[in-house]
Amino acid sequence: MMTLQDEILRRRTFAIVSHPDAGKTTLTEKLLLYGGAIHVAGAVKSNKIKRTATSDWMEIEKQRGISVATSVMGFDYAGYHINILDTPGHQDFAEDTFRTLTAVDSVIIVIDSAKGVETQTRRLMEVCRMRKTPVMVFMNKMDREGKDPFDLMDDVEQELGIKVTPVTWAHGQGLTFDSVFFLNNRPDILTDKEQADMELIDGVYPAFDREQYLAGDLAPVFFGSAYKTIGVEELLRFFVENAPSPRPIEAQERQVNPMEPQFTGFCFKIHANMDPNHRSCIAFFKICSGRFERNTYYTHVRENRQMRFSAPTCFMAQKKETVDEAFAGDIVGLPDTGNFKIGDTLTSGENLHFKGLPSFSPEMFKYIENADPMKQKQLDKGVRQLMDEGVAQLFVSQLNGRKIIGTVGQLQFEVIQYRLEHEYNALCRWESLPMYKACWIESDDEQELEMFRKRKAQYMALDKEGREVFMADSAYVLSMAQQDYKHIRFHFTSEF
Ligand code: G4P
Repeated sequence: MMTLQDEILRRRTFAIVSHPDAGKTTLTEKLLLYGGAIHVAGAVKSNKIKRTATSDWMEIEKQRGISVATSVMGFDYAGYHINILDTPGHQDFAEDTFRTLTAVDSVIIVIDSAKGVETQTRRLMEVCRMRKTPVMVFMNKMDREGKDPFDLMDDVEQELGIKVTPVTWAHGQGLTFDSVFFLNNRPDILTDKEQADMELIDGVYPAFDREQYLAGDLAPVFFGSAYKTIGVEELLRFFVENAPSPRPIEAQERQVNPMEPQFTGFCFKIHANMDPNHRSCIAFFKICSGRFERNTYYTHVRENRQMRFSAPTCFMAQKKETVDEAFAGDIVGLPDTGNFKIGDTLTSGENLHFKGLPSFSPEMFKYIENADPMKQKQLDKGVRQLMDEGVAQLFVSQLNGRKIIGTVGQLQFEVIQYRLEHEYNALCRWESLPMYKACWIESDDEQELEMFRKRKAQYMALDKEGREVFMADSAYVLSMAQQDYKHIRFHFTSEF
């Protein structure tokens, strides 16, 4: 009989992230094969959005619909319980990915060895660094002619700003690549080239230090080919043994330890059903502590209300299944009809508010206008609910009270417009607003802040929590503001 502690210690909840096409889907699939969760390659219909569909967002939403079942992939391996959280590959949904990263205890970054570090990887790493999330790196596609392994590691150190140390090494590369070995268990016979590599490795890289890895300061590096299933089992074995079990999580009130018997959790994602006849959604909760049980009353902290759930789901072997219990580290999907917002906390009664679900500065901004004067209420309600779901961010201009929607990609504007029309019976119009970034500002110098507010009045807005935001219309304007107002801190995320 496993104790609560045993259950929690054997959990490994993580995300695999990469620039599109580096091999995330292929690697995920191979891990599931090792876990016995699937039996044939090609079975993962993941969040991967097909390239052909980039301009057709309805198609993308359909694919996202399919991907609910693969949002979390749970399986057992070597006595460990693994939860892989899938993230959308399409960069217009980057905000979804950032939020998913708030629910994981570690990350595996996949890099295409022919390309090295790419833009999306850089942005994802920024989020990991902010949260000190431990990362491992898988250099994929070693079966292709790629960059030199040492150059790849330099690239990661410089571009991603993290120390690295190799844990496995490749026999050959490109056509000659056929296997990998653990550097702490080297084969007796090595080619001259490999012998030279070993000397360089021993001279340059530190031994793997788990403490540094757990602190987010050191990334162990693996080489392989997801496609050819080489180097994957080595990664998996090392991962389960070294990656963290659920870690303590900060709430505003106190730090919450996963081993506490009382259940706590927070909502990091809401997946809406696009079918207007079924207005349900699934609220995804990360369990932060204790044991979650079906049909048990819990406190919805923001609304100070008791709720129980008769059909919570977990995600095992790619199937959504109703579960009776789940443990810290697990993700439960709670069928919902609009009760939850991103960031909501559920507890066994305690008044807790989890931190660490920041908003990130959007990249595109538009004024939203009502296009049907008879439907103002519907529009307001729709916008509010879509924002609670995390589809985009709402700002209100301090100058004229107009509503501004910020997104990371053009697609979300189309999604919002469509959903307002079909789910809320409201019509909207967009008016473009060429803005560069939204910066959350703070300062200890109240006088300077007041001056800034006055001088920049036309660029000031409030976010949905009423926090002050400076809408910079260009990188130049922002850097001038940073120079002129030395005591004001400009943040690209809402939590700092
Ligand atoms: P993603 O989820 O990160 O976007 O990448 P995905 O796994 O879909 O892989 C992108 C492409 O790279 C796929 O090829 C996949 O087969 C290939 N790939 C993945 N891992 C390796 C590897 O280790 N070696 C080589 N040579 N290729 C790899 P595709 O042609 O786009 O799709 P498919 O027709 O193979 O499915």
